[in-house]
Amino acid sequence: MALGTWGLSGDPYGPIRADMRDKVIERAVEHDINLFETADVYGQGEMETLLGEMLDPASTYVVTKMGVCRSAEPPQKRFDRDSLRAAFDGSQERLGRDKLDVVLLHCPSVTVLEAGDCATTMRELVEEGRLSHWGVSAGSPEVAGAAVDAGAEVVELAYNLMLASDLHEVADSIAATETALLARSVLAHGLLAGYWRPDRTFPSSDHRNKRWDPEQLRYRVEQLSAFRPLLGEEVPSLRALALRFVLANHLVSSAVLGPRTLLQLDQLVRELADSTLSESILQELPLRLASVGLQP
Ligand SMILES: NC(=O)c1ccc[n+]([C@@H]2O[C@H](COP(=O)([O-])OP(=O)(O)OC[C@H]3O[C@@H](n4cnc5c(N)ncnc54)[C@H](OP(=O)(O)O)[C@@H]3O)[C@@H](O)[C@H]2O)c1
Repeated sequence: MALGTWGLSGDPYGPIRADMRDKVIERAVEHDINLFETADVYGQGEMETLLGEMLDPASTYVVTKMGVCRSAEPPQKRFDRDSLRAAFDGSQERLGRDKLDVVLLHCPSVTVLEAGDCATTMRELVEEGRLSHWGVSAGSPEVAGAAVDAGAEVVELAYNLMLASDLHEVADSIAATETALLARSVLAHGLLAGYWRPDRTFPSSDHRNKRWDPEQLRYRVEQLSAFRPLLGEEVPSLRALALRFVLANHLVSSAVLGPRTLLQLDQLVRELADSTLSESILQELPLRLASVGLQP
């Protein structure tokens, strides 16, 4: 399990108290989580600075992302050599590490990856000894495929019970190249925790306000009923099913989770104490997904 810090930045899910944000990171370390996922744009660099201050480089790894320029209005993607090298310098300073562990290009296009310059820049940083591994955070299976073709060592992709087909599209090339895979949005932004009412609304500062209109959200919440018959003694909650589904895929190196409170973090860690799924559940899942129109 990796701790993702997008939600802790206050950017996507609305404001978060600084003391709670710090406590979640501290508690993650106490839980022996040693992989932290961030980006130079989360909190305009604030999350990298915080991780630089709070984490011991000897016992933790940080995955950061770059390539989005937030000082431009509107924000722009910038994957040219000069922009990436300047962004790298900024991240390295904020994280306070002599060598960065993993840097991902933050959602580039297929065209940018095929042009090859950004991959060359990342390889240079590896050869210079400033970076251990590079990769791509992909917004689609096409981008993930282009990333693997460009030689990315790590790919990050949204992967969850309700969005499995994207990974399945690129599974063969990820397996053949032994690319490390970081699965994000494992709870489908909280939906798969299974607590939402069909008429739930979100404040305008919450990205989920724009992600689903009321009708789509109602439909999504109703689709969850397909999974409930699978819950019981073996898998006690929908949240546990969602986590175990992702970790049952042998291609997944780590699930990047986004708890925003101590309670949520503790729940997720507790659920992960047993991450197995029986063959019978794994066999029944595709049928249940298909029964509510979801692609297995
Ligand atoms: N392009 C990219 O590179 C990219 C994109 C997306 C995410 N990420 C990374 O991946 C991380 C996770 O992604 P995500 O935020 O999309 O996904 P997620 O883990 O699917 O959803 C996070 C949300 O789930 C809810 N939640 C978390 N733990 C819970 C629990 N124990 N019980 C009930 N609800 C719980 C919280 O929402 P409530 O506020 O409703 O409680 C939380 O804000 C992010 O922090 C970020 O670091 C990267």
